[in-house]
Amino acid sequence: EQINKGNYEHYMQKEIHEQPESLTTTMRGRLIRRTSSKDKTLLLGGLKDHLKTIRRSRRIVFVGCGTSYNAALAARPILEELSGVPVTMEIASDLLDRQGPIYREDTAVFVSQSGETADTLHALEYALENGALCTGITNTVGSAIARNTHCGIHINAGAEIGVASTKAYTSQIVVMVMMALAIGGDSISHQRRREAIIDGLFDLPNKVREVLKLDQEMKDLAELLIAEQSLLVFGRGYNYATALEGALKVKEVALMHSEGLLAGEMKHGPLALVDENLPIVVIATRDACFSKQQSVIQQLHARKGRLIVMCSKGDAQSVCPGDSCRVIEVPHVEDCLQPVINIIPLQLLAYHLTVLRGYNCDQPRNLAKSVTTE
Ligand code: AGP
Repeated sequence: EQINKGNYEHYMQKEIHEQPESLTTTMRGRLIRRTSSKDKTLLLGGLKDHLKTIRRSRRIVFVGCGTSYNAALAARPILEELSGVPVTMEIASDLLDRQGPIYREDTAVFVSQSGETADTLHALEYALENGALCTGITNTVGSAIARNTHCGIHINAGAEIGVASTKAYTSQIVVMVMMALAIGGDSISHQRRREAIIDGLFDLPNKVREVLKLDQEMKDLAELLIAEQSLLVFGRGYNYATALEGALKVKEVALMHSEGLLAGEMKHGPLALVDENLPIVVIATRDACFSKQQSVIQQLHARKGRLIVMCSKGDAQSVCPGDSCRVIEVPHVEDCLQPVINIIPLQLLAYHLTVLRGYNCDQPRNLAKSVTTE
């Protein structure tokens, strides 16, 4: 497959901007609207023979590294809500270091863009030895993880060349949301919720097109932050993962120290760092955690924090405590899909910071696309 940069300067830039199309491909043939627009079907061929076993699992255990782990973390709440099965998170290397318990009654889900990451692959071997049902979520047909799992779903995001994962992250989240819909598909009490999510999925590529229009705004913000030493990102609920992933993007390509933090932990340490110099992104889009995030913003403002608030369109006035606060307004979507929208301004910020600081975004220092050694 011949991949070129088209009209873009870098693969990372191209891959960020092609997310409306990559997400459409991820959903193609899986989310189907019948002739009457009210009739919608979800089909995940790779899972359909295993759904009963997964529903009866003792736990669903997500296993991954880096961005793939973050994508699973973003999908965790909706999987818990729709399936009712406890969902636990494992960083592959940590599971192996601890030799953590994996049971025959577990469903272990291995998330990996490349399907070849050594830590994830070894964790898969470990889970197979322990008798768990093993499912793979990869972007690479025929990869080791795809071959060695009992069942799975390809994310079909298209080849990702940039070392920093961007379009694979959003496609992974969408696949795991569809997985949650499929596993929870037998529950009548969640029917309306499922329908709202399916409608949201159909409309998601349009919303992604809309949020990509923030490109210039993110470049302006990058110009402002170009010489900073550090950036904090606070999120919670569905967007704790966005905070981790946004910070990972900034550190891996822009080579700027950045930390994603759980906003609920703010008073348990990170608050000590807050002053008028350190830039802090707070993700405060509308969902069940919104009022808690408003209170976090107030507390950071009271300590003269240098705030950049990401909020839902139309909320700028109500979330920003003063003129000094900078706002990123994003389109509102169903809560479990909001991480797909919210990561995009942070991907753009990381990209522009990298270019402005004179670094190579496609081949960041010391990193490889696929980490095939432990
Ligand atoms: C993503 O931007 C990173 N390059 C890295 O964290 C990556 O996600 C991780 O190495 C896992 O890779 P995988 O998805 O191919 O398993």
